[in-house]
Amino acid sequence: MAEDLHITATSKAEKYKELLPQLEALIGDEQDLIANMANTCGALHTAFGFFWVGFYLVKGQQLVLGPFQGPVACTRIDLGRGVCGTSWQKKEILIVPDVDQFPGHIACSALSKSEIVIPLFDKVGGVAGVLDVDSDQLNDFNETDRLYLTQITRLLRF
Ligand code: SME
Repeated sequence: MAEDLHITATSKAEKYKELLPQLEALIGDEQDLIANMANTCGALHTAFGFFWVGFYLVKGQQLVLGPFQGPVACTRIDLGRGVCGTSWQKKEILIVPDVDQFPGHIACSALSKSEIVIPLFDKVGGVAGVLDVDSDQLNDFNETDRLYLTQITRLLRF
């Protein structure tokens, strides 16, 4: 497909519905995981204008920064630290409406106000990494993001 996106919807759910098949067409035939993560970040950042969208990948006992769109970010996160490290440890999606209220939140940027973190599972159910999406608005993520971001991460094969 052409390497551009066409998003005309205004509501978040409709935007996700428009984006999903386009993203599938963009990354479905490509085997390279880094390339697919990079395009996933670009697509989410472009479609929604999120402040920061990126992947962290499990390497040993840490998450290490992978492809992202947005300001520079911290490179390494320990298991159980911050929202990302907690999502990894608990193997759970975390929606944080106000990052200042999350104990141990890692403030890569003071502008980040709310976030959602989706764990990424490998073929045997281990966590291979996380997708971290940050907003400069409070309370910017909800069940719609949980639903569609989960579907988007399933397009990636770890
Ligand atoms: N918010 C994360 C740290 C990563 S940056 O926001 C890009 C956390 O507390 O896990």
